[in-house]
Amino acid sequence: MPKVLFVTSEAHPLMKTGGLGDVCGSLPAALKGLGVDARLLLPGYHDAIRRAGKLRAVAQITIPPLAQPVTLLETVLPGTRVPVWLVDFPPAYDRPGNPYLNGYGHPWHDNAARFALLARAAVAVALDKAGLDWRPDIVHAHDWQTGLAPALLAREPERPATLFTIHNFAYQGLFPRDTLAALGLPEAFWSHEALEFHGDLAFIKGGLVYADRITTVSPTYAREIQTPEFGHGLDGLLRHRAEKLLGILNGIDDNAWNPARDPHIAARYSAKNFRPKQKNKTALQKEFGLPADARIPLIGLVGRLAHQKGVDLLLEALPRLMKLSVQLVLLGTGEAGYEKAIRDAAAQYRGRLAARIDYDEATAHRVEAGADMFLMPSRFEPCGLNQLYSLRYGTVPIVRRVGGLADTVVNATPEALKAGRATGVSFAEARPETLVAAVRRALALHRDPKVWRRIAATGMGQDFSWRHSAAEYLKLYDELIHSGSPRAGGSDGRSAKGSRGKRAR
Ligand code: ADP
Ligand code: GLC
Repeated sequence: MPKVLFVTSEAHPLMKTGGLGDVCGSLPAALKGLGVDARLLLPGYHDAIRRAGKLRAVAQITIPPLAQPVTLLETVLPGTRVPVWLVDFPPAYDRPGNPYLNGYGHPWHDNAARFALLARAAVAVALDKAGLDWRPDIVHAHDWQTGLAPALLAREPERPATLFTIHNFAYQGLFPRDTLAALGLPEAFWSHEALEFHGDLAFIKGGLVYADRITTVSPTYAREIQTPEFGHGLDGLLRHRAEKLLGILNGIDDNAWNPARDPHIAARYSAKNFRPKQKNKTALQKEFGLPADARIPLIGLVGRLAHQKGVDLLLEALPRLMKLSVQLVLLGTGEAGYEKAIRDAAAQYRGRLAARIDYDEATAHRVEAGADMFLMPSRFEPCGLNQLYSLRYGTVPIVRRVGGLADTVVNATPEALKAGRATGVSFAEARPETLVAAVRRALALHRDPKVWRRIAATGMGQDFSWRHSAAEYLKLYDELIHSGSPRAGGSDGRSAKGSRGKRAR
């Protein structure tokens, strides 16, 4: 069975700011269930160290250009048997709060150095130079924060295979050119066929150019990022590596997100015993200071308040939405402008719209359980987990038909309704009018309790656990291990060029 080192900047419950944390907290455990020897390497953030159970210093490594050694602290991911190594280097990671942003919402000034350190620690572990007596077959790196790991490994003659997963293409880890020298990275990386991107150093390109295989988190997003609309300027590179790119849909932790066992919600329920869901709605209305009316449809939204999530569309649509017979509950944090606009809207539409500008896991569960509908008007969405949680909680998702949302929500067209396949409402264009029209459509369906129950029950009957997707990763790991090439002779940027030549023929 493959030995896989997950390198990531988040893994729930040690650190999470979004879906990356969910995935890296649950996929390794699912793989372990399939027999994979999955282990995690994560920065030793202040909060991660605090949340971890027993910690044991197992190695000290020297990582250039740092003068002091770095310690690896060993623990297990809480609630699992997955071993975790935390890279303990206080000057880089001993800061409470968000792993990427300071208290003013700006990126930490030394992010390039912090995540280069993570990559270099990954290389040391991958080559068994940390004295851990464990050598992975595969290094599985996630998002730009870990992009340097495949790039640095590609320079090694004897190395594990590398897999890079794109969770969000919009974040590319761009830094000024002089970062290259400051981090002591090879000058050869400064080329548009390597890590240079329009005059900047792009960490994400380390994964895109050098990893043996690339995945992203839904089949539709895998296609979308090869187009200029979703490619953030890197679609050409992805088209060039298309043969190496695969979309594997995220799964969810169906123990943590299970309305029949959820410790955070007012009343537990299931598809068979759906009635108690109503109690969660009443509780949510009370918690958010809305009139506790059982009949008025309640729409929930939980998420990062970012352009990606279509917050601007929602804000523009609000005057029209608030004319309809609905309540809206929002939980989120993010861009200051959006936070303020939402606070203002909550004041303006008091009793109809309630918001909490906060990041709180338990409240997120209560919104999923208490709302009738869940809104995700995303401009792009690599996978999206909240709509999967909503489906599981019988909370009908209203989503824009992009990325993973398109792959997971079956729009309630007359045909889909007739066939009993509908699980939600989706709309195509990113415009306030289409959003309002979709909500209207959902409200019309909600007026017929039998139809609504059926849509909710169909959603609850879907299996979005890791069962399928973890098996797909395992298949990919096996392919990587057995393909052997190009690692024997060592691969570098040239292998990327070589395959381009082949494709051009
Ligand atoms: P993304 O990774 O783009 O933020 P996903 O839908 O994949 O979007 O995952 C978001 C995850 O973060 C979900 O588990 C969601 O519940 C959680 N989340 C986002 N915002 C908040 C918040 N304000 N409070 C609690 N959980 C949140
Ligand atoms: C990203 C994406 C989200 C995805 C998550 C986990 O943050 O925005 O769509 O579900 O990663 O893969």
